[in-house]
Amino acid sequence: MTTAIEVMRRHRSIRKFTEQPLSREQREAIMAAAQAAPSSSFLQASAVIRVTDPELRGRLLPLCGNQAYVVGAAEFWVFCADFHRHLQWVPAAKTGFAEQLLIGAIDTALMGQNALTAAESLGLGGVFIGAVRNHPHELSELLALPKGVIPLFGLCLGHPDQDPEPKPRLPAALMFFENGYPAHQDEALMGDYDERVRHYYRSRTGGNKDMSWTGQIGETLAREARPFMLEFLHRQGFCLR
Ligand SMILES: Cc1cc2nc3c(=O)[nH]c(=O)nc-3n(C[C@H](O)[C@H](O)[C@H](O)COP(=O)(O)O)c2cc1C
Repeated sequence: MTTAIEVMRRHRSIRKFTEQPLSREQREAIMAAAQAAPSSSFLQASAVIRVTDPELRGRLLPLCGNQAYVVGAAEFWVFCADFHRHLQWVPAAKTGFAEQLLIGAIDTALMGQNALTAAESLGLGGVFIGAVRNHPHELSELLALPKGVIPLFGLCLGHPDQDPEPKPRLPAALMFFENGYPAHQDEALMGDYDERVRHYYRSRTGGNKDMSWTGQIGETLAREARPFMLEFLHRQGFCLR
């Protein structure tokens, strides 16, 4: 196996960090790796805000579900889809199409994953923060995000102060298909996987969390998350047509 594959397969989110900062070299290497990600139609429809001001991090904390690592991690970067740049340079550009939301989200996610993998390859750790979308209006105001820019996810990075087990993923047979989507899901495989996830949570939480994967997605998908999102996207000039 290559080193890249080993790093990717060892991935687990890190939510506890030492106080040690990243070196400038580490930070610049991670930024360069992020920028090397492929980009749809070479639009490079992304912007990344590195939040270094401790007071600003403190103000972002309650907007991001009070997740302590938003202030505790050495680095906190907010990854955004960005079409503001295009409109600045090419005012006649037509934006606001649903397809462009996908382009911005895909480009930016590829950058984010490159950044995390690069960090992990340097012995660092991190976790994405989807909670930056909990209060997008307020967060956008604090980060001065103009129309054409939306926050997609944050990324906490730092030196790990924990060493959790990798989380078991779905069996490949339930995710990789050949020549078309299967008519039926393999119930026995799913049952086994539910038990593996239950075991993972039990051992990770000392028995406090007893949850299968289907139980977890049942809870997550029981209601609409962030019902304000469409209105926010419209306000920022996304998904208008
Ligand atoms: C877009 C995105 C947003 C996420 N948001 C959060 C978050 O707000 N807080 C958190 O603790 N973990 C967050 N995560 C991490 C996931 O919970 C984690 O990746 C998943 O449970 C699998 O665990 P692993 O990364 O340790 O393999 C997020 C992951 C992604 C991809």
